[in-house]
Amino acid sequence: MYTDLDRPALRERVLQRALAPDGWRVEVLAEATSTNALVAARADEPAGLVIVAEHQSSGRGRLDRSWVSPPRAGLTFSVLLAMPDDSGWLPLLTGLAVATAVTEICQLTAELKWPNDVLVDGRKICGVLASSPSPAVAVVGIGLNVTTRADELPDERAGSLTLAGSSTTDRDTLLRAVLRCLRTVLDDPAAAKEQYRKRCTSVGRQVRIELPDGAVVTGVAERVDDGGRLVVDGIAYTAGDVVHLR
Ligand code: BTN
Repeated sequence: MYTDLDRPALRERVLQRALAPDGWRVEVLAEATSTNALVAARADEPAGLVIVAEHQSSGRGRLDRSWVSPPRAGLTFSVLLAMPDDSGWLPLLTGLAVATAVTEICQLTAELKWPNDVLVDGRKICGVLASSPSPAVAVVGIGLNVTTRADELPDERAGSLTLAGSSTTDRDTLLRAVLRCLRTVLDDPAAAKEQYRKRCTSVGRQVRIELPDGAVVTGVAERVDDGGRLVVDGIAYTAGDVVHLR
């Protein structure tokens, strides 16, 4: 069993003070349905709103799945942003921000599986869910497994920072690092796209893509195109679940 000492609460006031200079307005809630839904409901506010939930009762994942994480075992938060010109890249660059933060802070090598899963040792430790409540506004939601135990994960393809041997599991530090890296990628998307292409380990591999309509395609992932789509055997895909075959 975990104890409260293993999973301390986030320090809202400290986070607010530390992140305000970068333009982030952080709110920490003990309980929420889904932070993506809460941020989307406040889409008329200025960009920079960050809602973090210590626990979500109806966390949403990509492709209509759910995202489940025990209280304070991970970071579950959503960010309100102005929609960038290259909106297709936003979830990918959010994944890059998490992978960069994890690599820097945790002494782990994080890789990116297209479009925006962050893997360590081949296991998914983080997922990103982007939505657009109105054409000018984007919400990016991030779920990062921090101290999650194996029996708390949905399946054997998922992992957590603790299980991967992270040098830190301090969620304040991790949240600050992710938001700092997110600011960096948003400030220079051209450099970030180049970085993403270097770090995305789906490219060059034999992959299986499970498409949103249920179809399954197998082939070689050739590149990520200018719209952030994955090109497999000459065809560009906008969404799907990728499995690395070898
Ligand atoms: C995925 O399926 O890989 C994406 C998971 C995204 C989960 C995060 S947790 C915070 C935010 N709120 C949600 O309901 N979902 C996202």
